[in-house]
Amino acid sequence: MTMGATSQEDAFAFAPRREIAQVSARKVVVEQPKAKSAVPMPVVLGAGAIAAAAIALKATKKTAKKQRKIVIAGAPASGKGTQCEMIVKKFGITHISAGDLLRAAVAEGTPAGKQAKEFMDRGDLVPNEVVVTMVKDRLSQPDCAKGWLLDGYPRSEEQAQALQESGIEPDLFLLLDVPDEILIDRVVGRRLDPVDGTIYHMTFFPPPTPEIAARLTQRSDDTEEKAANRLAVHHRNVDAVVGKYSNIIKNIDGNRAKGDVFNDIERLIKAM
Ligand code: AP5
Repeated sequence: MTMGATSQEDAFAFAPRREIAQVSARKVVVEQPKAKSAVPMPVVLGAGAIAAAAIALKATKKTAKKQRKIVIAGAPASGKGTQCEMIVKKFGITHISAGDLLRAAVAEGTPAGKQAKEFMDRGDLVPNEVVVTMVKDRLSQPDCAKGWLLDGYPRSEEQAQALQESGIEPDLFLLLDVPDEILIDRVVGRRLDPVDGTIYHMTFFPPPTPEIAARLTQRSDDTEEKAANRLAVHHRNVDAVVGKYSNIIKNIDGNRAKGDVFNDIERLIKAM
């Protein structure tokens, strides 16, 4: 699920660079980008443009200040997707879920999706040659220029290495801690709403109406057996990934009500 920025922020963030040299009550002078042999030519703007320029300047400062690059990690069903829903709602950060990208590729039947499917069906990690490119391509999209929330990636030392080699560095690494015995219950009870993407749980977060309940779907890897393998894969890899981000890692107790978990996360993001 992705939430875009406001059109005003986007419009200014991706506009050609110009220096607003002077803002007064009546007019604003904008210097054109410097050409090699040209003397900068001031342009006098009218009152309407003054207000637009002032708003745009403010938006740029706000955008620059609020750029956030966050990774959220944790075992299967530790609540990554649930917390991402809440983070996106509160902060409007672009959410990139490696699992969602892969599921979309499988559904579309792309070559990458065809390659990924058998690994996902078993609950194994999809090979790096598929997933690394997919995530890096997604991070290069314009809606990530202001920051991103990366969910379920990196999941191995090699994936973390690939990010670092591309100069992609998060500022905050959130790690949700939930005991294994809780996770299997969460996996098998999970249901997804295909209409709005909401993540439910038949016991902990049941659908609010019979109509919604009737349309919910279950992921094919949400069985006890596959979840056990996904959990084993997580435990084999997590220490190496955590080791790469030890300076920015924040452990969160994910075995609490989702609102309480979010309160901790919200505080950490606001402090960025
Ligand atoms: P992916 O889709 O990322 O699955 P996952 O990591 O196993 O995580 P989940 O989506 O199962 O759980 P979640 O932590 O988001 O929990 P949720 O919020 O839904 O990956 C799927 C597959 O894709 C992998 O197995 C692999 O094959 C492949 N893949 C993905 N990334 C890859 C990568 N980087 N490299 C290679 N392969 C990759 O919550 C779960 C349930 O618990 C829900 O029902 C929810 O309502 C409930 N719940 C959430 N929070 C709480 C709470 N606080 N209290 C009670 N219930 C809660």
